[in-house]
Amino acid sequence: MPQDIERLIKASKKALGFSQPLYSGFRVGAAVIAGDGRLFTGCNIENASLTLSVCAERVALLKALSEGATDLRAIAITCASGEPCYPCGSCRQMLFEYAPGIKIVLPSKRSVITLNLKELLPMPFIKKVP
Ligand code: THU
Repeated sequence: MPQDIERLIKASKKALGFSQPLYSGFRVGAAVIAGDGRLFTGCNIENASLTLSVCAERVALLKALSEGATDLRAIAITCASGEPCYPCGSCRQMLFEYAPGIKIVLPSKRSVITLNLKELLPMPFIKKVP
């Protein structure tokens, strides 16, 4: 496994520990790596007003974008359950907007699955501004 991917997976596992799964009990950690080597982590953060809850992937993505990192190469997503944690539809769409070429890395207790975002979101919503 290339060193950067190993680093990324480790960071996503660490981020899991900061998760706030107050209502679902489901912990998710994510880490994004930018072209310049910077890592940005995220975890799911829930709220009593349930629709305000934010997924780990979007926390990591928004941290990266808000720190000026736009060349995002890969995102690792880890669940406490040890099963592969496929990103939800909203996160796929959000990733597509800002990092259409990003690699999705899904470690589990059995293996590491690596996919292109295009495989997970073959027909994204694209708004053509007139
Ligand atoms: N969750 C994520 O953080 N990422 C995903 O890709 C799927 C779901 C979170 C949202 C919520 O806090 C919890 O997992 C249960 O749905």
